[in-house]
Amino acid sequence: MTKPANEKSGARIVVPVALEGRGYDIHIGRHQLCEAASLIASFAPGAKAALVTDEHVAGLHAPAFETCLQQAGVATTRIEIPPGEASKSYARFAALCDALLAAKIERNDLVIAFGGGVVGDLTGFAAAVLRRGVRFVQIPTTLLSQVDSSVGGKTGINSSHGKNLIGAFHQPALVIADTALLDTLSEREFKAGYAEVVKYGLIGDPNFFDWCEVNWSRIIAGGPERDHAVAVSCRAKAAIVARDEREEGDRALLNLGHTFAHALERLTGYDASRLVHGEAVAIGLALAFRFSQRLGLCSGQDAGRVAAHLDAVGLPSRLQQVPGGAGSTEEIVAAMTQDKKVKRGVLTFILARGIGKSFIAPGVAADEVRDFIEAELAAA
Ligand code: GLY
Repeated sequence: MTKPANEKSGARIVVPVALEGRGYDIHIGRHQLCEAASLIASFAPGAKAALVTDEHVAGLHAPAFETCLQQAGVATTRIEIPPGEASKSYARFAALCDALLAAKIERNDLVIAFGGGVVGDLTGFAAAVLRRGVRFVQIPTTLLSQVDSSVGGKTGINSSHGKNLIGAFHQPALVIADTALLDTLSEREFKAGYAEVVKYGLIGDPNFFDWCEVNWSRIIAGGPERDHAVAVSCRAKAAIVARDEREEGDRALLNLGHTFAHALERLTGYDASRLVHGEAVAIGLALAFRFSQRLGLCSGQDAGRVAAHLDAVGLPSRLQQVPGGAGSTEEIVAAMTQDKKVKRGVLTFILARGIGKSFIAPGVAADEVRDFIEAELAAA
């Protein structure tokens, strides 16, 4: 894959998301907060802004960003939520809507989501319904949210019936991915987000996967390779979202590895000390390729390469690596069939004919899945 010249020099990269009447740009680069503030000011002149963030991100980055917003002439109210998945709740959603109303955010004002996936999903959903919809800006602060959740307009909260079951499609008006903000992530959190980067190569860009195999440590180190990886990921996601915004077809490809991953997260009680989403996705990606190999779709060489890359990076690639154990075959299969992408008891998987050759496979027999999981658990 050729690397565009601007991605080598560290200049800001702009990736458009082409949606009729709801298109927007993703701005990618290091130290973008003051530029973000200027963009916001010029994009919504005279608008007030609510800056929604979590207590952790607030401590690290909010004062610097608020100074930029103030200098750009954007009047801002900060609203903090507790960090963690538990904030994607009805109670926190209601409290956030009330806080936005108390801050007198009107239809022409802006809501800024400044944080990781939890902040983005919750804030986006509040923005979708507040006064029947206000504009919102995503400023994602984790790798996972920069390459996945901040782009594409999925917003929502969790219910006792499952994750992300209450929500809305509400596209952001602007996304600013400041890749320098990722310098403060723990190695574990960064690597977990990296699983979603690799996913784009595995879905449809074999050259990008080749490039990741060579450059992954530079992505972590934070050079121009990091910006390039975020840009390639956002371009891939933008292209899929532009052709299937509401997941009626191709957007499901973004769920590569996720049926396995969601089951593992459920079985580990969404306990981040055991498994975070990106780690579950890493195992899910390796499983999706080994399952494809077992079904005779994909070569053992490609499935082996996927696992070897995840191993090299320090991500898990096997069920045996789930801390405390993943559960029995029956428990894993049962957890998979609870996934919201299961229709009338039939499993839909994203499978692969090779690296970069993923496809949607509806109607995969439950027996095949059970036999595969059993073999995986039995493997040394
Ligand atoms: N994270 C998957 C999607 O946005 O569709």
